[in-house]
Amino acid sequence: MNRPVWIRHASQLVTLAGGSSSPVVGERMNELAIIEDGSVWLENGRIASVGTDAELEEIYRKRLEEADIIDATGRLVTPGLIDPHTHLVHAGTRENEFNMRLNGATYMEIMNNGGGIHATTAATQKASHEQLYQESKKRLDLFLLHGVTTVEAKSGYGLTLEDEIKQLEVAKQLDEEHPVDLVSTFMGAHAVPKDYRENPDAFVDVVIQEMIPEVARRKLAVFNDVFCERGVFTPEQSRRILEAGVEHGLLPKIHADEIEPYEGAELAAEIGAVSADHLLRASDTGIERMAEAGVIAVLLPGTAFFLMAESANGRKMIDAKVAVAISTDCNPGSSPTVSMPLIMNLGCLKMGMTPAEVLTAATINAAHAIKRAHEIGSIEAGKLADITIFDVPDFMTLQYRYGVNHVHTVIKKGAVVVA
Ligand code: NIG
Ligand code: FE
Repeated sequence: MNRPVWIRHASQLVTLAGGSSSPVVGERMNELAIIEDGSVWLENGRIASVGTDAELEEIYRKRLEEADIIDATGRLVTPGLIDPHTHLVHAGTRENEFNMRLNGATYMEIMNNGGGIHATTAATQKASHEQLYQESKKRLDLFLLHGVTTVEAKSGYGLTLEDEIKQLEVAKQLDEEHPVDLVSTFMGAHAVPKDYRENPDAFVDVVIQEMIPEVARRKLAVFNDVFCERGVFTPEQSRRILEAGVEHGLLPKIHADEIEPYEGAELAAEIGAVSADHLLRASDTGIERMAEAGVIAVLLPGTAFFLMAESANGRKMIDAKVAVAISTDCNPGSSPTVSMPLIMNLGCLKMGMTPAEVLTAATINAAHAIKRAHEIGSIEAGKLADITIFDVPDFMTLQYRYGVNHVHTVIKKGAVVVA
């Protein structure tokens, strides 16, 4: 049995306590439940006790010698960051397309000419399980170094049953072997393969009749996602795919209103999706309906930044009482980053969110977006001991000194994994 870990004297211990039962909305996104001179006792991979240093010293008076002590004097302690939307498992890179976009080509033009998602699909189909594993593991190592302890990971670069399963099996192996936890999403409806260009509905049938049942039977995913976008999957096709997932126990998520307004937010509300992601061009009605239906908005400011587009209006969504989470969207085309700290900076600078709101969005609301809020996302007794320590004195400074990796220590399930 490992020794207990005692984190002491945090200048700010941001617990985010109180938000586990439902996503945090509105003004409450600014309430971080901060303890000054904070202290956390970790035992058996879980959080045993949280309070001021004086309180924990009293509680553990007789056991102080047993623990390994981490002195967090002058540092910020938060829940391990959670990335609720990534395309982690893929092969290859697309810096050539980045250059094309800088010279005026658009993301959709590149995709419609056989590049974009199609290029990464070709590379991923060609890659062996081992190659995919190694490439993805490198990225996951970097996520961890940036303070992230859980990531959602989508398939969607296989586009055949066999290759989609290959991606999901790589994610499963990473979940088993890597300190970072993975939560898998099936996204067979990420693009219409070239062979189905003339008859996209036939591919939708393959996704519904062959892929979803098999992925569900093998228990390889928790969620089912679709790229609902003009020129990719229509709202009607998206609805069919997401409803078929629900029939097989896969919870719906949707890439909505990323490039053009397409009533994706409205669809998410109508079918009761767990989250609608992107939402750069979501309509006011869509935002209202998401608030009513309790759909979480997973916002991806790195994608808007990298595509040189206007960001989603996080401010408006929070004011409309939509629960907002944020994410890297880590993928080789529209957001090749692993830095959740940078994404939080962009949340402040490009989406009008406060430093407190972005931290809520990257922890407890991100946990809700992947249905893990009962286990992670806040520092509360009983939850997994997933904790990140930053070498800044408080959460405001974390946003103020932007674009820098301030991570000092990462603890996953009670073990120090970055020091
Ligand atoms: O979330 N928009 C669709 N999918 C990804 C990009 C995938 C890619 O370009 O490879 C996204 O932005
Ligand atoms: Fe995405």
